[in-house]
Amino acid sequence: MIALGADHAGYEYKEKIKELLKSMGIDFKDFGTNSSESTDYPDYAIKVAQSVGTGKAEYGILICGTGIGMSIVANKFKGIRASNVESVDGARFARAHNNANILAIGSRLTKWETVEEIVKVFLTTNFEGGRHERRVQKIHSLTNL
Ligand code: RB5
Repeated sequence: MIALGADHAGYEYKEKIKELLKSMGIDFKDFGTNSSESTDYPDYAIKVAQSVGTGKAEYGILICGTGIGMSIVANKFKGIRASNVESVDGARFARAHNNANILAIGSRLTKWETVEEIVKVFLTTNFEGGRHERRVQKIHSLTNL
């Protein structure tokens, strides 16, 4: 299951991503927002990060204007590796090297055709493990420095 969340800036892309996931036969849960009315991105990043962090969702996809605010919030949650991705190669490496479990997208920075490819590649690329496993484990051994 994929957890989806967006603020007003990401709302339209979220609706398009829902259609894309349906066409791929992938189950999802929509945590809002449900219109283009101005709202606060942390409210949605929190819900999606909790869903992924507790194992209810396998991956999360968050969309705001830049993807930056969403990724900052999501990465505060235990077990979350959120990546703000603007390119298809970025999506591939976020999964292959970082085992990213949340994809953050900026609707004002990345055109829809690219986002479509980003989502497909993110959801179909496996983590390479090996030396990257050790590095990912080090991320989660961090507390407050
Ligand atoms: C909203 O205007 C915008 O600040 C938000 O969507 C996001 O880009 C924040 O990181």
